[in-house]
Amino acid sequence: MAVTLNLLSTALLLLTCAVGVTVSVNRCPNCGSTAVPYPLSTGSSCGDQNYKIRCDAGSLVFDTLNNTYPITSINRFNQRLVIQPASLVPNTCVTTDLRFEGVQLNSSLPFNITSSNTVMFLNCTDSILRSPLDCSSNGLCHEYVNESSRAAACEASPICCTFKAGGGATAYAIRARETGCRAYTSFVNLQSDLPVNRWPEPGMELQWVSPPEPVCGTQADCDRNSTCRSDPNSNGTRRCFCNSGLFWDPIEGVCTE
Ligand SMILES: *[C@@H]1O[C@H](CO)[C@@H](O)[C@H](O)[C@H]1NC(C)=O
Ligand SMILES: *[C@@H]1O[C@H](CO)[C@@H](O)[C@H](O)[C@H]1NC(C)=O
Ligand SMILES: *[C@@H]1O[C@H](CO)[C@@H](O)[C@H](O)[C@H]1NC(C)=O
Ligand SMILES: *[C@@H]1O[C@H](CO)[C@@H](O)[C@H](O)[C@H]1NC(C)=O
Ligand SMILES: *[C@@H]1O[C@H](CO)[C@@H](O)[C@H](O)[C@H]1NC(C)=O
Ligand SMILES: *[C@@H]1O[C@H](CO)[C@@H](O)[C@H](O)[C@H]1NC(C)=O
Ligand SMILES: *[C@@H]1O[C@H](CO)[C@@H](O)[C@H](O)[C@H]1NC(C)=O
Repeated sequence: MAVTLNLLSTALLLLTCAVGVTVSVNRCPNCGSTAVPYPLSTGSSCGDQNYKIRCDAGSLVFDTLNNTYPITSINRFNQRLVIQPASLVPNTCVTTDLRFEGVQLNSSLPFNITSSNTVMFLNCTDSILRSPLDCSSNGLCHEYVNESSRAAACEASPICCTFKAGGGATAYAIRARETGCRAYTSFVNLQSDLPVNRWPEPGMELQWVSPPEPVCGTQADCDRNSTCRSDPNSNGTRRCFCNSGLFWDPIEGVCTE
């Protein structure tokens, strides 16, 4: 009996400690050594379920509609993350995700592609010349293709186009297509006056919408600073709304003063 009690109090102590160290009750555990900030979720019991990413063998990955990309960085304060775009099939100017038609996000989810991306479409057909992209022969993508060993195979394909992503049709998709451009790459916050050998590694920045209060079934799902009530903006959904005097902090995922 004494042993059982001892075990019980040890378990309680561990539990208290575990709760004590997490800033938010709802924060997911680290993936490998990488923190998973709220509202991002790697499991059904943590984070916000609309913000699913995956922890795959100790590394975070982002699932698009048809494919998966490594997450290379996360900034919880500006609610952005960077994924690593697909690489080229060796010695060709075709991206490995051509069969999935490039990066396509589910537009019902709270992630979109930010306007900090400079996207280069490579190995394009001349049908693309009717588009509003910059496909001029002295464009930035030509400079990239000429100077970067990574895209050397693309020198053999004369048409490439450059554009700043974000908004409209590009908020949820950067498309590669057999009938359009067969490859693409992207750079976050590119200073285009820098020589190509000083450009950053390719990356594509996504942004997430500020999360609303967490969904709850009963009061037991909420902490003592919030109350489980129906959401006036969505029928049938109940959320942990902050008690009076406190407000919802979507970055920490808690109610604060
Ligand atoms: C450009 O794309 C076409 C169609 O997929 C492919 O056949 C060709 O090899 C690509 N060009 C280069 C230089 O890889
Ligand atoms: C991508 O996935 C969607 C939904 O799962 C599917 O309808 C579509 O055909 C897929 N597209 C490609 C190019 O694989
Ligand atoms: C897109 O996300 C919504 C909301 O989670 C989900 O219901 C839907 O099945 C997703 N669509 C696809 C094609 O995966
Ligand atoms: C790229 O290289 C080609 C061939 O060497 C040259 O004609 C062209 O001017 C270069 N373009 C840029 C933008 O550097
Ligand atoms: C992307 O999401 C952010 C954050 O919610 C929003 O402010 C922005 O308008 C969205 N951009 C587009 C093009 O939908
Ligand atoms: C909730 O349901 C009622 C009746 O079905 C409908 O009139 C109302 O617009 C709905 N409200 C929201 C926010 O979906
Ligand atoms: C409740 O809010 C108070 C005041 O901001 C804070 O000190 C306390 O840690 C919160 N408790 C929980 C469980 O979040």
